[in-house]
Amino acid sequence: MKKQNSITKLVNTNGLQNVGYLAVAKTRAKVLKAFAYVVPIRRPMLFVGETSCDELCDMAINEGSTNIFIVTDAVLNKLGIPAKVTDYLDKKNISYTVYDGITPDPTFKVVEEGLRKSIDAKCDSIIAIGGGSVIDAAKMIAMSQGNNCKPKQLIGILKARKPSVPLYCVPTTAGTGSEATLGAVVSDDKTHQKALSIDPRMVPLAAAIDPVIMKGMPAHITADTGIDVLTHALEAWMSVNASVETDYYAASAAKAVMQYLPLVYKDGGNLKAREEMGIAAHYGGIAFNKAGLGYVHAIAHQLGAYYSIPHGRANAIVLPYILDVNRKASQKRLAELARKTGMVQAGQASSSDSDITDHLIAQVRDLIATLNIEPTVKGMKTSDFDSMAKAAAKEVSDTYAVPMYMPASGIKDILTKIKQASDERADKDKSSDKVA
Ligand SMILES: [Fe+2]
Repeated sequence: MKKQNSITKLVNTNGLQNVGYLAVAKTRAKVLKAFAYVVPIRRPMLFVGETSCDELCDMAINEGSTNIFIVTDAVLNKLGIPAKVTDYLDKKNISYTVYDGITPDPTFKVVEEGLRKSIDAKCDSIIAIGGGSVIDAAKMIAMSQGNNCKPKQLIGILKARKPSVPLYCVPTTAGTGSEATLGAVVSDDKTHQKALSIDPRMVPLAAAIDPVIMKGMPAHITADTGIDVLTHALEAWMSVNASVETDYYAASAAKAVMQYLPLVYKDGGNLKAREEMGIAAHYGGIAFNKAGLGYVHAIAHQLGAYYSIPHGRANAIVLPYILDVNRKASQKRLAELARKTGMVQAGQASSSDSDITDHLIAQVRDLIATLNIEPTVKGMKTSDFDSMAKAAAKEVSDTYAVPMYMPASGIKDILTKIKQASDERADKDKSSDKVA
């Protein structure tokens, strides 16, 4: 059933073999693999389509919900997005309280406020309506309420003792796949560094993928979140902890993104493409729940913390660099993915793994360019790179099972390349301003 991935290697840009670092990272990867296969991780019930919110509410009511806490953000609330759920609850005479205080990259303060409101309203279940930030905050509120504890006490792995308050999710973006995953991210109020809570009991009971709710998403957010899905799929696929099961979901998600993301970026009202992207995001979440992520996410988290780059966009900036770094170690696997998903050029199926992998990486770069994602970051400072690289290396060795390990110096090289590209772009913009 389980499939062994390509051989784990260590890249050290100084040419030195860091045996201790590699041994610790590999041991952690094995522990994570054991965790993923020993601890059962349930999958949420999935409702898809224009009536999926009704079906989700029916399930909540049938499971005993009588007073529901609806977690969302102010923008979505102003746009009237929660009405699709609240109108149905009104029809069914179910009480609810709408809380729209969740902000992007929610901090502990934000989550604590939501928790207080949910307890004050004596709610017995939660419906999250929003993107990854809203869903992560709702997970933390539901777990803290269920365990009668502070959100900070849940940071780490398996910190909860009791189940979460029943949680249902309506994702409004096709990106994080948070409605399928066992983790939630909360930012520190001062440093904005992310803290992670992991517990299988955090997986929501159900999710509704409603393409009508997603159709209002602006094109640039559709693009950024869509590349987040692709990154989940590719990192889960390249993970040493990948299995037949995670491969199925990762390949399905990658294939859907390559096919539908350009369509939905061009025409936000394409409901078929919206729905397929929503399912892809969910599948990406299932894949990385067990297989984990990698350097793209580790570095992207630093770009988010230091320069406030949105998560999906940060992934889009970093992804091509990591595909290049992993190219040798993951060549066989990436060629397998391309053959499996039809991401090969006409008549190329029998070509070498090397050629097919080159073509797949080129397609990913082309997709990012088609989505007009500028691969640059404003305000990068070389003096930040040491601490950013150390934090990213730690995230990988603590959390992920990557096909090739890099020391912090390798990560610093990638940050330097991103800065160089960003500086060159800024110079170009300045000179074209002068000409104009
Ligand atoms: Fe992500």
